[in-house]
Amino acid sequence: MIETHRHGPVLSIQIANPPVNALSEAVRRGIHQAIEAAQKDDGVSAILIHGGGRMFCAGADITEFGKPLAEPGLSTVIDAIEASAKPVVAAIHGSALGGGLEVALGAHYRIATASAKLGLPEVALGLLPGAGGTQRLPRLIGVSAALDMIVSGTPISGSKAQELGLIDRIVAEDDLLEEAVAFAATLKEPRTTGERTVAFEADEFDRFVEHNGRKINGLDAPRACIEAVRAATTLPLAAGQERERALFHELMDGAQSRALRHAFFAERTAAKIDDLPKDVALRPVGKVGVIGAGTMGGGISMNFLSAGIPVTIVEMAQEALDRGTGLIRQNYEATAAKGRMTNAQVEAAMALLTPTLDFDALADCDLVIEAVYENMDVKKEIFARLDGIARPGAILASNTSYLSIDEIAQATTRPQDVLGLHFFSPANIMKLVEVVRGAQTAPDVLATGMSVARKIGKVPVVSGVCFGFIGNRILDPRLEGAMDMLLEGATPEQIDRVSVAFGMPMGPLQMIDLAGVDIGWHRDPTRIESLRDALNAVGRWGQKAGGGFYDYDGKRRPSPSPAANAIIDEYRSRAGITPRAISDKEIMVRTMHVMVNEGAKILSEGIAQRASDIDIVWIYGYGWPRHTGGPMFWAQQTGLSHVVSALERHADRLGDDFSLSPRLVEAARNGLTLDGKQAG
Ligand code: 3HC
Repeated sequence: MIETHRHGPVLSIQIANPPVNALSEAVRRGIHQAIEAAQKDDGVSAILIHGGGRMFCAGADITEFGKPLAEPGLSTVIDAIEASAKPVVAAIHGSALGGGLEVALGAHYRIATASAKLGLPEVALGLLPGAGGTQRLPRLIGVSAALDMIVSGTPISGSKAQELGLIDRIVAEDDLLEEAVAFAATLKEPRTTGERTVAFEADEFDRFVEHNGRKINGLDAPRACIEAVRAATTLPLAAGQERERALFHELMDGAQSRALRHAFFAERTAAKIDDLPKDVALRPVGKVGVIGAGTMGGGISMNFLSAGIPVTIVEMAQEALDRGTGLIRQNYEATAAKGRMTNAQVEAAMALLTPTLDFDALADCDLVIEAVYENMDVKKEIFARLDGIARPGAILASNTSYLSIDEIAQATTRPQDVLGLHFFSPANIMKLVEVVRGAQTAPDVLATGMSVARKIGKVPVVSGVCFGFIGNRILDPRLEGAMDMLLEGATPEQIDRVSVAFGMPMGPLQMIDLAGVDIGWHRDPTRIESLRDALNAVGRWGQKAGGGFYDYDGKRRPSPSPAANAIIDEYRSRAGITPRAISDKEIMVRTMHVMVNEGAKILSEGIAQRASDIDIVWIYGYGWPRHTGGPMFWAQQTGLSHVVSALERHADRLGDDFSLSPRLVEAARNGLTLDGKQAG
């Protein structure tokens, strides 16, 4: 776990705990003992701490959270580093995150590579840096810069860290160890951060809160982070650390951190495919084809272009092709205007794009993604054509959001090469990709689909074939509940408010407005068979039309719509329904609990591998609030028996098609998780 070496008078302590050098009990003990021993060793004049393998250290060992703390605690180790009578240097490459950066903050000097990532990401786990980070960082770089790092959790580069005064020297990676040893050998005195005071302006905290209020509203950890940094401005190190520790433990025991830690591991577990051999060889993907240059096709292409992978995009008409290509450029230029891309990067990405009307140009692509509109006949025709021209072994993917991958695959002579890659709109931004595994999808095709998705920065989740896959299948009962309640007497605002108060970015009706009320509409304004038909008939197609369930201003901000409400009232009375008062509790059951029920069904059908995969789909694809852990984790925390009894109470209102999931009922009755394990 720890390897020590002598380089003349310099003792190096290498953290050797792959894959990320987490500060496990053994690592903490090892560092502590080495520091103590060095104090007594007259031959040692300075100490160097560095990481073996690909990084310095990713912080505390998260797998130890929730277990009794084994001594020495991380703060004890870091305090010992800072108290060392011999100068201590931290040499950082790769990442120094959380407790890892705190170790470096305890050291007296810091050297890093320019590309190293330094950060305190604890807030993403619902925590704060609990080993002195909130006390030492502001002492080094000031309140505002420290708040930025601690509250956002976003790492900064070694170069940026040098600008801020966090890093003393930048060194090339190949020379890091050698230069760090040479530097350490020149040092005579320790230099402690803890003795410094924090320079700050009186209104710095207020300004920070004002600027970040919306992002941190309702979240426990950012608030605690700010309070801890405030303590650094008024208290000496030891007292500040005590305050920090108390806040850390409060967060650790809280529901939000538990949920966020669940999400961290759920995201990594989603990458694992249970029945796939670990050593399955991936197919090479050096060139991608995209069929359809609409919003989806364009967004999908951008992911590959941004990752440096050439894309051939095919359309049927020049005008549509030009429009699609223009939109891609426009999106890139907007990103560049915000300073998040250079003009050279925009041009480099665009240079990788080959727009064409020639379908045969897809012949040399390794992966082809079809992204045309949802129509089975059209998709089958495209796949049959693709089958005739794609090179042997090419992966053929559909971006369908509902249709059967198995049926699409049957249109080819190579169903083993077909899978679904379901992106979420806007596809260049949303992180989720459902990787849909058909009955005949080959293991290496599935594994390559997952790997390619990760390469372009997505979070892939495997789904089996069913109508709507994991995400949209669960969405359906939620939308149905919302539409039914409108008819029964609720207003769009009332329904959506419940979801927004829960932490969703928008409610179900705002979501329909965003996606388009007219999706799937028959386009005959005289045929009014549903509330959606009634809105569509008068052009209330949603946000894009300036109105749907809500009215929208020029900036697409919603406001309650008297016109839409009148249409709802009229439709209701024509349907002979007498409006009744609907409680927020009922809305909760009919828009949220029904999702859990559908999720349990998906699990028992084997569509999702595990409950936590469903959580990841909803967190990354639909903005489910991460601090509640996703719908299935939330249900488990709420109590499955509570979910079941709430659904039973409202069963007569949930429609004729509703049935309780036997898996949900059984798990609730027997105290199990939805994966069938003993609930902890
Ligand atoms: N503790 C334990 N395990 C960890 C870990 C940690 N801090 N960080 C990562 N791992 C595990 C992952 O679960 C994964 O395990 P698996 O292979 O069994 O699934 C493995 O290490 C590799 O991780 P990734 O797949 O995430 O590897 P990447 O190369 O994609 O990313 C990373 C590396 C950027 C370091 C990323 O793992 C990461 O962000 N880790 C978490 C960092 C973090 O949050 N640190 C703060 C911890 S809290 C803390 O320090 C409290 C202190 O203030 C008291």
